[in-house]
Amino acid sequence: MIEVEHLTKTYVGRAAVNDISFAVGRGEIVGLLGPNGAGKSTTMRILSGYMPATFGRVRIAGFDIFSQSLAARRRIGYMPENVPLYTEMRVREYLRFRAALHGLSGRTLRQRVGVAMERCGLVEVRRKIIGTLSKGYRQRVGLADALVHDPALLILDEPTNGLDPNQIRQVRGLIRDLKVEHTILISTHILSEVEQLCDRVIILHQGRIRAEGSPAELASKLRTAGLVRVQVRGVAGIADKLLQLEGVRKVSQTASQDGWLTLELRTESGADVREQVFRTAAGQGWTLRELARQTATLEDVFAELTHADAA
Ligand SMILES: Nc1ncnc2c1ncn2[C@@H]1O[C@H](COP(=O)(O)OP(=O)(O)OP(=O)(O)O)[C@@H](O)[C@H]1O
Ligand SMILES: [Mg+2]
Repeated sequence: MIEVEHLTKTYVGRAAVNDISFAVGRGEIVGLLGPNGAGKSTTMRILSGYMPATFGRVRIAGFDIFSQSLAARRRIGYMPENVPLYTEMRVREYLRFRAALHGLSGRTLRQRVGVAMERCGLVEVRRKIIGTLSKGYRQRVGLADALVHDPALLILDEPTNGLDPNQIRQVRGLIRDLKVEHTILISTHILSEVEQLCDRVIILHQGRIRAEGSPAELASKLRTAGLVRVQVRGVAGIADKLLQLEGVRKVSQTASQDGWLTLELRTESGADVREQVFRTAAGQGWTLRELARQTATLEDVFAELTHADAA
């Protein structure tokens, strides 16, 4: 449904998106995850045909977004980061206006607007002025807007941004329902959102793809790279000693309490350093009270990939 090859976008000489390639299959729901400034919105704007790329190629349902823009855009429902609604219009009036822009008319138009309002829970507020609606309802209008021409693909840029917890749950529920009939690309910087909604995650950082896979796959990738937690009572220089062990890449002290130090060891793939740690502790006369291999979460993966000081 989406094919992206070597996509690059530079703003005044700086690359916001730097040579990214990925594909999204029909029926998938894929999360574009990344911290602020990672390039998520830039990618989505290009994919939706709202902005040209500097370099690279994007195809939507087989149509080139640049040279076959009309055919491609007909298949896309795009909800931008800041939903640009006409706040003085009424909900139904606005959606009819948007549907007409997509070339719908007559009965089809009324029917599509009706379906979109129903799906997004807007029927009761259809006569309200958009500007008087709560943020959660406005997001729903944005979603209905993206849906109104019945596109096969939805591109949603941080659809739950700025909502309260109840509204977030509602909008997520709505997206989950939409998944049945649509391919969805959703951007977020909220990890739990990705874990709850997405089949696959693409982690973007500084305009590049850092990792890709199902939430579970990404977590297990890091697990093989390894993280060992050690709690030890001893003298100074423990971290340095542990860092000298074979297979240990990095040691960070995470806490210290009543003379007990908690340290985290990042290890090479496949290395299990627990035995070595135990022997070192015994040899040095340190008292060891915890020695455990950690199971990584998607949060660890994200931290490892997007924090400059990690690993
Ligand atoms: N119109 C623009 N002109 C110049 N630089 C821009 C423009 N839009 C975005 N950028 C820069 O491009 C980079 C990527 O921005 P982008 O908005 O795509 O990130 P994002 O992942 O959506 O971030 P956020 O989570 O904050 O929405 C940032 O460094 C940003 O400052
Ligand atoms: Mg953004």
